[in-house]
Formats: sequence, C-alpha cells, structure tokens
Amino acid sequence: MKLGCCYFPEHWPEAMWADDARRMREMGLSLVRIGEFAWSRIEPDPGRFDWGWLDRAIDTLADAGLTIMLCTPTATPPKWLVDTMPDMVAIDADGRPRGFGSRRHYCFSHQGYREQSRRITRTVAERYGKHPAVAAWQTDNEYGCHDTVLSFSDAAAARFRKWCEARYGSIEALNGAWGNVFWSMEYRSFDEIDPPNLTVTEANPAHWLDYRRFASDEVVSFNREQVAILRELSPGRDVTHNFMGFFTEFDHYDVGRDLDVATWDSYPLGFLEQFWFSESEKRDYLRQGHPDIAAFHHDLYRGCSSGRWGVIEQQPGPVNWARFNPAPSDGMVALWTLEAMAHGAEFVSYFRWRQAPFAQEQMHAGLLRPDSADAPAAAEARQVRDVIGTIGAQEIAKAKVALVFSYEAAWVCGIQPQGQSFRYLELVYEWYSALRRRGVDVDIVSPEAPLEGYSAVFIPTLPIVPEGFAAKLGDLACPVLIGPRSGSKTTSFCIPEGLAPGELKELLGLTVTRVESLRNNVSNVGNGFSVSRWLEYVLTEEAPELALDDGHSVVFANANIRYCAAWPDRSLLDLLVERIAGEAGLILMDLPEGIRVRRTASHIFAFNYAAHTIDASTLGLGEPVVGSAQMEPAATSIWTLA
Ligand code: GAL
Repeated sequence: MKLGCCYFPEHWPEAMWADDARRMREMGLSLVRIGEFAWSRIEPDPGRFDWGWLDRAIDTLADAGLTIMLCTPTATPPKWLVDTMPDMVAIDADGRPRGFGSRRHYCFSHQGYREQSRRITRTVAERYGKHPAVAAWQTDNEYGCHDTVLSFSDAAAARFRKWCEARYGSIEALNGAWGNVFWSMEYRSFDEIDPPNLTVTEANPAHWLDYRRFASDEVVSFNREQVAILRELSPGRDVTHNFMGFFTEFDHYDVGRDLDVATWDSYPLGFLEQFWFSESEKRDYLRQGHPDIAAFHHDLYRGCSSGRWGVIEQQPGPVNWARFNPAPSDGMVALWTLEAMAHGAEFVSYFRWRQAPFAQEQMHAGLLRPDSADAPAAAEARQVRDVIGTIGAQEIAKAKVALVFSYEAAWVCGIQPQGQSFRYLELVYEWYSALRRRGVDVDIVSPEAPLEGYSAVFIPTLPIVPEGFAAKLGDLACPVLIGPRSGSKTTSFCIPEGLAPGELKELLGLTVTRVESLRNNVSNVGNGFSVSRWLEYVLTEEAPELALDDGHSVVFANANIRYCAAWPDRSLLDLLVERIAGEAGLILMDLPEGIRVRRTASHIFAFNYAAHTIDASTLGLGEPVVGSAQMEPAATSIWTLA
C-alpha cells in the first residue's frame, strides 16, 4: 500500500516545492494528488493558459520520485467563467442561485458548463496526459459536496423533461405511474413538468424519486464525459473520483462503473460529530471516531468499482468543518491508515500536506503546520511506512458475509420516511456494526452484485426490489436476513398490488398488512431483545420465529430466508447475528468493546478504538508481528494468520 498526500503547489512559493517533495519522500510518501482547485491559475483569463508553474511543479515532484495523481479542476470554475454565463450556477431548493466565492457552484445540467468542463479536461489532459509521472487522474472533486447534486435551475428542468419523456414515452404513462390524478396533478405534455421544489406542501414522492434518479444520472454523465477524454488522451492511467462519507445523493455504483479505482475521503472525527451517533458514542469516541465509520466506507467503496480502491483524503488532525473539531488521540492517524490497508486499500493519502494559513480551511490540520514544522501526524505516517515495510503487500479475499446497500433505497426512505427516525444510512450502519462487533468481515455490495459464494446475506431494507433480485435470493442456500419495508414500493413509488413485500412475497410467504412508526424512546420488548421506530403487522400461516412480549410477531423464517418486520435494536441484531452465524458456520469472536479486527489473506489486524488499554491476548492469536497483545489506546496490532 502506498502513502501519499494532497498538495497544492499553487498555495506556496515555488522556492518551497523541492524541499516539500524531499520531505514527502523522507516521510515515506510516494503519491501526491494535485490540481483539483487550480483552474484560476491554469487559465487566468479566458483562453490564456499559464502552464509554466504547473510544468515546474510536476517536474519537481517527479524528480523527487513522487507519482502524481492529477485532477480536473472543474469543482472550482473561476470568476471570469461564471461571469460569462451567470446561469451556469446551481439553483437551490428555495430557488436561490448558489453564488461564486467558494466552490462547487456549477449546475450539472448546464450545457454551457458541460462544454467548459470538457474543454478544460481536454486541455489539461493534452498537456499532461502522457507525462511519465502522471499515473492517475481524479475527476473533479467530491461530487455533491455542500449539497450540490440537486439543482433546480432552468437547465435542469429542461433536461428533466427530456429524461421523463425517455423513461415514460407518453405523458399518460407518466401520469399513470406517478398517480397524478391525486390532487389534480395531471400534465398534458412533458413540457408542463417542473422540478419538485417550491410546491405548497410535499410534492408527489414519485416525482421526487424520478428527480433524484435524474439528478444522479446527470452526475454520472458529467463524470463520464471527463473519463472519456482522459482515456483518449492519457492511456494506461487510472481514473478515479473521490467519494464522500455517509453520502447517498447519487448512485455511486453508476459512477464507479466508469472508474478504474474508487477513492473516498475519510474524516472519522468529523463524521462522528456530524451524524446520528448518540451523545455517549460522541463522548466515548471523541478522538477516535466510532469504530465502524472508516471500515464501513472501505467496504462500501471496495464494491463501487472493480474492487480497486484507496483513501485519497485521510484526516491527519483536527478538521475545520464539523460542529466541534477535536484532535485525534496519538496513534489514531496511524490506526486509520493501517485499517484501510487491512480492508484492501491500494493507497492512503493525507489531506493535506501543509496546513494553509489563509482562506476557508486555515483551521484544518495537515501533516505539516503552517510554519512547516512537522504536525503530530507526520510521525505517524513514518510509523505506518515502517509497518508496511515489516508486513509487506497485503491481499484481501472475498468476505464471508455480503451486506446489500442500495442508493435508491436511501432515496426512497428519505423521500417518505413515514417516521422521522427511519434513516437508511443509520439502519445499514447498525446492521454492519452488529457483524463487525463479532469480528465478521463484510463485503458491502450493490443489489446487482452476484451473491453466490457468501455464507450469509444481509439486506437491511430494499423498498424497491430490482428485477431478478428475488430470483437471485431464491437461488441461495445460505441464510438471508431481510429487513423492514423491503418490497414495499414499486419502481414508481406506489404500494404494490397485493401489498408488501411485493416481489418478495413468494419467497417470504407473508403479507404486511399495516405499518406504524413510533416516537423515539417507545420500546417494544421481547425475550432478551427490543425493537423500536418501526413496526409491521404481518399476515402469514407460519408461526413466527420471534415475537414481542405482547404477542406481536417480529421475525419470520421461511426456510433459509428471514424477515424482520421491525427496526431491530442492537439486542435483536446481536441475537440474529448469533443464530445466522450458527446456521452459516461463521465463527464469531468475542471482541472487547472498542476492538475491531480485519483479515487480509495473510494477516489479521486488530484496532483499539477504546480510550483504555485492552488485553488482546484473550483473542487467542498468539504473539503479534506488529504491536503488542496489550493494546494501548489507538494501538494497531497485527498477527500472521495460521
Ligand atoms: C473534503 C474536500 C477537501 C477539503 C477537505 C477538508 O471534503 O474534498 O477539498 O475541503 O474536505 O476536510
């Protein structure tokens, strides 16, 4: 696994570059990502290019032996460009333009901007596509960051109408599919359709779902245009894009199909603070991040391209963008880096090389302080370099368990949650966590992925069951666990004929006749477990596998396939993981709180996310080759697999 960093030569006097490059090498870094926000320096005026500085920056880095990932600069269109076509900016859901002065202000649907995106991509690729040190490209930067997937511009509206026409063929078909007779929402032609924002109360969920699908397709085609140019002008180089954490606004599998390598940006402390974690988790893991945050995304993005992936932005210290921005405890940066290795990353690159003393991110740490002295993460990068040297390259095998993750499912749950705590990402994360707490390695896969060969399959929820999916499940002999609301919607966001679970009815042998969502803190208790948030009423001839104390049935089994008709709390997930593991022949581990493990083909890694020392000799793995069995906070220990 390579180490790297994100570097902005345009932020520093040229006189510093050579020494920066030398220090990167000394620290064990071999990859450097540059250029993602440099448009105003590459093309200061329309059509006038200043290549000199970038030529010299690339050569300086290359001369030091660094491999370069160059980016297309399209996340930051310069002021002059916006001024030549002010309508290229995205329009937010309240109808306001997203102004110039930060980044990501463009609208994916604006054809003038599309043309500019192709032009600058072509120009940069023509100049550097065959440079021997340029080994990879990143398209744009974090599609969707700052809530920028959806735009409600005229350009988007026009393209959405065409998109609807292509999907439905006739306006009658669209009216029928969406159910537009409800509230007299019928259209006479595709030209009459607007985006679903600015309606008096909620717009038709079918309208929203198609708008989300459309917006996702816009990201895919925007990216694809750049990829095509890069492939033409820079043959043999990997193309990637950097995805974000806990982000579902576009279908990452669709973008990933056009990439060679998926990358993501890992900020565990920022994510812990910004997402749904409880106050006690936020306190206990303040300086570590919740133990499954990084791993969850490693396993997700490994399934988002060909299986090749890396971390292109790794948090090296406090960030600037969360509500509170603590410093990682000593050792955490090394732990996060090695954890990526254990999950199969090809590289981990730190964001950023040196903390900038100016502009929006001046409070965001780097490997170096603004005065160029080493920041604490620098020593940890060196430490990781040494560990990589000790254990050598790692290969990873297919995991034993598959967890099905669907972007469309996230949209459906978000559009009509029915209870405000029914959050898709949280549901999937809880299921993932339940497996990881017991030491199980997981592949997170798309509903389209093949499922044979796994010992167990977990599907937290899949409201819209894609064609062929039920048959694919039917062919499996291993235990399968399917969660609430699965099969509850048609592709056009309606209740299926014959009710939920729709396409899964035959497989499960039951019908969901009524559902309810519950306030937080309303607990529904069974023998040794509880459920909350969501409860279904099920009609079936078979006796349930598990019922609540009040007699309400919650878990059903039909041969190897189980259905959970409620939001399972941790206690129920733990119980189901135990039962399924027993049937699947999966070996579960009793991991101390805060410990996670991950196997490569040759080693098993353990990570201590707890804030105290843990005796890992209880795991029975013998003497580690790296670290110690007495694991201090933030320690990583590694054993050779027998
Ligand atoms: C990422 C982004 C970087 C930088 C970083 C700060 O979202 O790609 O450009 O802003 O966050 O943590």
